[in-house]
Amino acid sequence: MAKRLFSGIQPSGDIHIGNYLGAIRNWVSLIPEYECIYCVVDYHAITMFYEPAEMQELILNAAAVNIACGIDPEKCTLFVQSHVPEHTELAWILNTVTPLGDLQRMTQFKEKAKQQEASVNAGLLNYPVLMAADILLYKGEAVPVGEDQVQHLEITREIARRFNTRYGKIFPEPQERLTKAARIMGLDDPSKKMSKSVGNTIGLLEDPESIWEKVRTGVTDPARKRRSDPGNPKKCNIFHLHQYFSNQDDIKHVDKGCRSASIGCLDCKKILFERMMATLNPIREHSLELMSKPGQVWNILRRGAEHCSKIAAANMKEVKKAMGLL
Ligand code: TRP
Repeated sequence: MAKRLFSGIQPSGDIHIGNYLGAIRNWVSLIPEYECIYCVVDYHAITMFYEPAEMQELILNAAAVNIACGIDPEKCTLFVQSHVPEHTELAWILNTVTPLGDLQRMTQFKEKAKQQEASVNAGLLNYPVLMAADILLYKGEAVPVGEDQVQHLEITREIARRFNTRYGKIFPEPQERLTKAARIMGLDDPSKKMSKSVGNTIGLLEDPESIWEKVRTGVTDPARKRRSDPGNPKKCNIFHLHQYFSNQDDIKHVDKGCRSASIGCLDCKKILFERMMATLNPIREHSLELMSKPGQVWNILRRGAEHCSKIAAANMKEVKKAMGLL
């Protein structure tokens, strides 16, 4: 039997090419190798300020875009965290084996607490416990995440160990499957990572015209001031993006053309844009089609939750029995 893999994505809106290249594409590639469960983590999202009236749309959007990127609901499970109440039930239990000091030391907690200085809610502190519950509820063994989530996996293993020591060996210790960090930088300022909070993203649902405007005006090798100056592709963010979207022949062509000044930056950008759109057009079209039929997407998510509920109920029974609660 394939090992079980679990990962979560926040329904935060505006999924961009950084998310796609850094995470979603990797999730898709793991589907043949594992029994994959992918979860839209709405209970995590509410630890930060949000608009209740927008939440359903954000969940739908996250699900549709992931499906359009290749998270095929026939080959893996996709569902919404709050549709399976056992996530919060197990989180409560795991809270009782988690030392307060460990939570207070988490890097992400300290950073997010800074953004909410006026009043830090306890959900933010307990965020890692809910994440541990997400994974352990399904006895997940592999968790694809980026570098920034490694500390959360460490505390998940620590929580599993503490639980197992106290109540008997029930949980595996899940391992991270690190995503080779695709560091996608902003086009207007390549010193900043592409992120929603900086506002420098290329969205997966963005119009081609608007994407072209960002590519056209994107910063290249600053030393190449005139068309006749040779450039250094290694110092060019546009060339960096070619690595993700273009084929080997294109890459050779623009690399040589840039170094010898036989092509200009605009030529290089036109090729990039064309290759980018070959990837992004089908994703955008499929996403928009799914979002125009929300009933279909909610059905997929409901089926996902039904599948997960069965696993969750069986595992909770085992947990409660071991704890003297059944
Ligand atoms: N904390 C993760 C993030 O911000 C999201 C997440 C929630 C998650 N639960 C999870 C990731 C379980 C992996 C496994 O990216």
